[in-house]
Amino acid sequence: MSPPAHEIVVVPPKDETRRQECYNVRIQVFVHEQGFPLDVEIDEFDGTSTHFLLRLVPSLIPIGTIRACSPIGASYYKLSRLAVLKEYRQFKFGRDLVLALHDWVKAETKRIGGLDHAEVIAHSQIPVKSFYAKYGYEPEGGEFDEDGAPHQKMVVRLPLGP
Ligand SMILES: CC(C)(COP(=O)(O)OP(=O)(O)OC[C@H]1O[C@@H](n2cnc3c(N)ncnc32)[C@H](O)[C@@H]1OP(=O)(O)O)[C@@H](O)C(=O)NCCC(=O)NCCS
Repeated sequence: MSPPAHEIVVVPPKDETRRQECYNVRIQVFVHEQGFPLDVEIDEFDGTSTHFLLRLVPSLIPIGTIRACSPIGASYYKLSRLAVLKEYRQFKFGRDLVLALHDWVKAETKRIGGLDHAEVIAHSQIPVKSFYAKYGYEPEGGEFDEDGAPHQKMVVRLPLGP
């Protein structure tokens, strides 16, 4: 089955309306489906992160999201909060969100200058490690607990090219 018509919108930190739409997808997936506590879902990184909102067109119904943040002083970006609503999985929307984030991170890294590659890290839930591996992520270190569930640090280095 071909995927429904959709678009991915880059949501800068100041766009609180679209950021809330990203939160709504996350709450549906991480809190209601996976059982993570609501009080850890929205965290201190949300206000400074760039979010990506995947929505159906022309209805503009939000169905997926991911976010990128770069800790102050760091030269890498952190990918987190990747979620696609259950009924819209297996349409490659997860892939499209990761690749949209990669494009944005590469452009930002080029804009800042001084590096020949961009680096992205993700804290993967264990069952999803093989999903990230498809996009070049490799495990670094051992498993650790985050928000009550085991996770694995995964890292990818993206060449910037000419
Ligand atoms: C993980 C998630 C975002 C994947 O989204 P999706 O739109 O269903 O994935 P895609 O259709 O883009 O799949 C891309 C590829 O990854 C594979 N894949 C999808 N879900 C996977 C999973 N949970 N584990 C391993 N591989 C997976 C697909 O089979 C596909 O492989 P292919 O290209 O070889 O055919 C989605 O399942 C989800 O929201 N899960 C709940 C939230 C979650 O666990 N987020 C990650 C937190 S670390």
